[in-house]
Amino acid sequence: MNIKQKSLSIVVCFFVLQSTAQINPYNYHSQKKVVGVNGAVVSAHPLASKVGISILKQGGNAVDAAIATQLALAVVYPGAGNIGGGGFMVAHLKNGKNIAIDYREKAPGKASRDMYLDSLGNPMLQLSQDGHLAAGVPGTVAGLFASYKYASLPFAKLIQPAIDLAENGFAITRSEAESFNELKEEFTALNTTLPVFVKQQHWKTGDTLIQKDLANTLKRIRDNGQKGFYAGETAKLIVAEMQKANGIISYEDLENYQAKERKPDVFNYKGNTIVTMPLPSSGGIILQQMMKMIEKRNIGAMKFQTVASVQLMTEVERRAFADRAEFLGDPDFVKVPVKKLTSNAYLAGRMKNYDAKKAGSSATTKAGIIKESEETTHLSVADNKGNVVAVTTTLNGSYGSRTVVNGAGFLLNNEMDDFSVKPGVPNMYGALGNEKNAIAPGKRMLSSMTPTIVLKNNKPYLVVGTPGGTTIPTSVFQTLVNILEFGMSAEDAVNKPKFHHQWLPDEIDVEKEFDKVVKQQLEAMGYKVMQRGHIGRTEVIQIKGKQIIAIGDYRGDDAAEGFAPVP
Ligand code: DON
Repeated sequence: MNIKQKSLSIVVCFFVLQSTAQINPYNYHSQKKVVGVNGAVVSAHPLASKVGISILKQGGNAVDAAIATQLALAVVYPGAGNIGGGGFMVAHLKNGKNIAIDYREKAPGKASRDMYLDSLGNPMLQLSQDGHLAAGVPGTVAGLFASYKYASLPFAKLIQPAIDLAENGFAITRSEAESFNELKEEFTALNTTLPVFVKQQHWKTGDTLIQKDLANTLKRIRDNGQKGFYAGETAKLIVAEMQKANGIISYEDLENYQAKERKPDVFNYKGNTIVTMPLPSSGGIILQQMMKMIEKRNIGAMKFQTVASVQLMTEVERRAFADRAEFLGDPDFVKVPVKKLTSNAYLAGRMKNYDAKKAGSSATTKAGIIKESEETTHLSVADNKGNVVAVTTTLNGSYGSRTVVNGAGFLLNNEMDDFSVKPGVPNMYGALGNEKNAIAPGKRMLSSMTPTIVLKNNKPYLVVGTPGGTTIPTSVFQTLVNILEFGMSAEDAVNKPKFHHQWLPDEIDVEKEFDKVVKQQLEAMGYKVMQRGHIGRTEVIQIKGKQIIAIGDYRGDDAAEGFAPVP
């Protein structure tokens, strides 16, 4: 989609942009595929991908580009890009080191297990999903500074493009205009002062969005580092916003927030090394379980989306999600038997009752027995030095809690809904949980985000990830199987139809484009198959020799940009 140049004043404004000098924020389009030689960035918004490439061109590495791209997304893609949310970064560095950075939101100090239940014990999900009380303590800015340890350019350089885009404005895409129009009432109801996303007339494609308050917040971060967000003016504005409408995030919660570097989850799949996110994301564990449950079953011979391959993948998805609901939570608070859950013997046992001829059932498929002893966004980056970065970051629902911090110009997440508000009560993605994922002060809520890197002979081969709530691990799973087992191109692996099973509800969800005959065959076996909207927005980078192939999902405005692209 091309966004037309709007007016002379806008052109003037474009020329005053310093750091984004080659980027025209009023005329851009979503390039879906690029082959770069010196690097590539793929993200949910063309301007953010362009910012990432501009950083690589200035000599930055993949981590520099990932930081700048995230900051740009916080401006140009407010539905999911954020500084008021949280995320995860998985990277493989040129020195061979794998890293995982956890900047998931935390429950505020005043949070308590039953805070979203009424006096009769009934869940009040509106409170965990909308408005001030739905917000966890944001982690993104701490995560950017934790990642910065591996960057090489001055932080001021990485944040300046975002400041320019917020201060001077940019043209919004059609889908952004549609979302702003659709959410006008909610933005009005859930804010104490009208945010810039609300205006009198209808938003149109190409309208300019200027975010002065956000620009000032970004400047405070530029000038004061992490403290520019977690202390001083910004922190005071967050606390003041909380006090206006029963929010509970305190100044101490903000001051005490720390991102955590964790040991990435690394496993082998038929000679490929898969590097992915550990707890508090369930994504890596689920991905490992699913890949290991299919590894010995010659799925490649079954071919892409035949009834046989879909049935096998559905049954491993069912089993992995049953375990998620039973066993997984923040490892800093609860004991999780990760080793056992991912051991070959345990996973072989989980598949003992697998029947290739018949639909399994979630009523009889419980979690394994272990004795105790949809808004998010993904970006993938590769540079020419051997560094690759996968980042998935989120506000949870689209535009998070829909509450903007007055005076600071950014949206707060509604991540508290990722806790289990009560055992047996599904969250907005239908995910279930128990005590392991119950709310406690300072605890991180369980996630499904699965930023993942595949290494071949210890060299980067694939960088993968997607938004989509509980469909994230199953989409990453399918993307990997499409490439590693069905021999598909990265482009097809992203764009071919996806399906999803998450134990409960006991159904296979399929995209509209899913093969109708296979759907009928699955139904004949006893599966309930439901058609749904798009699944995920997967961003893949594949490295083949000197070529860095980047693919942006057709399902959104996602865009790939290359450094020294091959025409
Ligand atoms: O962390 C999680 O699993 C969720 N908060 C992700 C939400 C999401 O992907 C929404 N995107 N469509």
